[in-house]
Amino acid sequence: MADIQTTSAALPPVIIRRSDYRAPDWLVPEIALDFTLDAQSSRVRARLSVTRNGAHDRPLRLDGDGLVPREVLVDGRALNAADYALEDGALVVPLTGEKHVVETLVDISPAANTQLMGLYASGGLLCTQCEAEGFRRITFFPDRPDVLSRYHVRMEADRKLYPVLLANGDPVGAGELEGDRHWAEWNDPFPKPCYLFAMVAGDLACNADSFTTLSGREVKLGIWVKENDLPRTGHAMTALKHSMAWDEKVYGREYDLDVFNIVAVADFNFGAMENKGLNIFNSRYILADPDTATDMDFDAVEGVVAHEYFHNWSGNRVTCRDWFQLSLKEGFTVFRDQSFSADMGSPPVKRIEDVRALRAAQFQEDAGPLAHPVRPESYMEIGNFYTATIYNKGAELIRMMALMLGEKRFRQGTDLYFDRHDGQAATCEDFVRAMEDGGDIDLRQFRLWYEQAGTPRVKALLAHNHASGEARLILRQTIPATPGQPVKQPMAIPIRIALFDRASGKHGGDTLLTLTQAEQEFAFTGFDTPPILSINRGFSAPIIVETERSQDELAFLSAHDDDPFARYEAMQQLMVNTLVGDVAGHPLDDAPVIAAIRDTANDSALDAAFIAEAIRLPSESYLGDQMAIVDPDAIHAARDRLQAKIGKALEPLWRDIHARTEANGFSLSPQARGARKLRNAALAYLAGSGAADADDLAFDQFDRADNMTERQAALAVLSNSSGEKREIALDVFYNRYSGDALVLDKWFQTQALAFHPDIVAHVKELAQHKSFTLTNPNRVRSLYGAFAANQWAFNHKSGEGYRMVADLIIALDPINPQTAARLVPPLGRWRRFDVERGEMMQNALKRILAQPGLSKDVTEQASKSLA
Ligand code: PHE
Ligand code: ZN
Repeated sequence: MADIQTTSAALPPVIIRRSDYRAPDWLVPEIALDFTLDAQSSRVRARLSVTRNGAHDRPLRLDGDGLVPREVLVDGRALNAADYALEDGALVVPLTGEKHVVETLVDISPAANTQLMGLYASGGLLCTQCEAEGFRRITFFPDRPDVLSRYHVRMEADRKLYPVLLANGDPVGAGELEGDRHWAEWNDPFPKPCYLFAMVAGDLACNADSFTTLSGREVKLGIWVKENDLPRTGHAMTALKHSMAWDEKVYGREYDLDVFNIVAVADFNFGAMENKGLNIFNSRYILADPDTATDMDFDAVEGVVAHEYFHNWSGNRVTCRDWFQLSLKEGFTVFRDQSFSADMGSPPVKRIEDVRALRAAQFQEDAGPLAHPVRPESYMEIGNFYTATIYNKGAELIRMMALMLGEKRFRQGTDLYFDRHDGQAATCEDFVRAMEDGGDIDLRQFRLWYEQAGTPRVKALLAHNHASGEARLILRQTIPATPGQPVKQPMAIPIRIALFDRASGKHGGDTLLTLTQAEQEFAFTGFDTPPILSINRGFSAPIIVETERSQDELAFLSAHDDDPFARYEAMQQLMVNTLVGDVAGHPLDDAPVIAAIRDTANDSALDAAFIAEAIRLPSESYLGDQMAIVDPDAIHAARDRLQAKIGKALEPLWRDIHARTEANGFSLSPQARGARKLRNAALAYLAGSGAADADDLAFDQFDRADNMTERQAALAVLSNSSGEKREIALDVFYNRYSGDALVLDKWFQTQALAFHPDIVAHVKELAQHKSFTLTNPNRVRSLYGAFAANQWAFNHKSGEGYRMVADLIIALDPINPQTAARLVPPLGRWRRFDVERGEMMQNALKRILAQPGLSKDVTEQASKSLA
């Protein structure tokens, strides 16, 4: 099979625009697929029932990528090559009637498919990934989400190599064939777009269970993995059953097929995929046990299992009209999985984690050359739009609507949305209209959140009048210019606030303000003394708030704010001010920071997980985001200094916490997890303090831990150290887990995230390590993704970091362009750094763009990053 995919980049890049949307010319109500599977060469016969959509005389155009038609039949009659055309890989067939049956036959090679899009081989399995445009690498088809079909699938394969044959929907038949072969047939009664098609063949073991739905139907659940991994599937199964019950209770959504299967694969471009009735997962989001997975990993498994399950309604039953509407399913589904995880654990801690992720990924994206609206206007390669903006900012938009509507009316809105659009390919506009109609609210101005990119900045000024007892809050919003959007309109921003009385430490109630103008004033009465402002409580809007609160006022809120997010935020702001002051050469007194950390750590009313979040220093990259020009070395040094001061000043406290949080026996209870989180935070401060026995304490924790959470945290501390224990621990860890790909990823990642003077050399060595490979996306991300996120290391003044990442992108692009393209954005941040670094970054981007035959994926990201 000729792979013609990469040749397309030689043509001028085609820009797809939202405004060009046109309904499909031909619909495909039914498709029958017949696979003769083999790793080297698989045969695919497809029979499409097609119907003309509206009055037109345009031919049938079936997308294809790297496909060569061996046979084309219309209504049972074979066409000659002259009777059809191939245009940009697509098969164009002129048709005369209103309805036809079109049949094609192609051969494809799963083993040669290193892109991991379409049908590919992973560790002896054959599996598919079709979103967004992978189905066209399997067979000729109108590969767009608004063409919905009923699928009937027949699979035939070697019985020994591929004893298990799975596809979407319900199994409808299976049997033996001669020559040690067998077959299976699956039928999916729900019409779906081709991006939700899936199929898996392999030697898999099953964790089988069942779930009885609200209306009493029994659903057979299966999690399919390699036999060895079966003991690590329990957490995912529990998460699945919790998700099914939660969606019934919170959204009134029941599962709709008789079976629900999940398959874990080792080679996967993203996290997981919501294929109808057959979710396919990156194994890192299925497999978990205490010895190999951290508490964060357990949470990620729970969250991603829920996310993909929730897509059955928000994505599958109601899908997207076109890829510009991607956030319709992704933003809503992220919001749903965040709410679910909050309900399963601690809502405040979950909110803090989600906001930290939003700020780290989405705020940076929104502030750079790749900024785009939640509903983009154009793209070259849709694979580049699975972004933090579409997912995480999209989720914040849903959250704001839910906040403005309140629980009951939001539910009325979602009920209406699901009822109105069940079985349809819908738009973001449809969602907003359902909220308006079902929830009785006017969202005209709110719609700007879908159109305007850039993180709004809100400046808050609080004035107090002693005579009248009035407090006036003045809010000013500005939305920065972003590529293609130089001028912005004011948005509707829901901001929760409270005004605290200094004497009592209390406030008179939480108020939801909606800022709708560029500048607006809100008046409050009854204040004898100037109140203290708690703002954007719960992070009610995804904005950057600027206040003029003093360190004393922030210290007050760190001790008294009853909104846990606002309390955390006050603490973070206290630390940010201190650190940014230090970097700028105006050091503030660190006493308030140290006092706030001490008091928080000693507050017995707080749970350990929250304490661990609140006392944590802001990351180096978050500090960089607060500055006009990022100085990675100064930030690193300032953060180190503050960490050392806090470590030393409160050393007895850290020793006490570290000792008293040691557990005897592993548990996944919230208390045990909180204790581990706090214990690791204490260890990090002790190490930061420079205490002579810090490495020994870390090594001891590393050695004795009965769980990965403590073991990896100790390894991370040792990875920063220049002492002899560093290498010992790394070797022990490597040897113990050398057979476990997911744990080896941690070994690479921990070293790439380290603050070690020789970090750049270490990463270079790791890239040559025998366990490093370019063909596994998890491994690539665990080394290079982590390294690029290590602001201090990646931006080393030698430019070595930029060179290494550019080299990697160039080497990876021909193998897996999607994964290569995801590593480009860190190089696009050149405007944020000094001239020398900026030039080196631009040169790296130029060198990438000069590569002949560069993929569309990397071309789009690198050229936009340079612009
Ligand atoms: N739709 C998947 C999800 O959000 C993400 C995905 C996109 C996976 C593209 C694979 C390829 O759950
Ligand atoms: Zn999703």
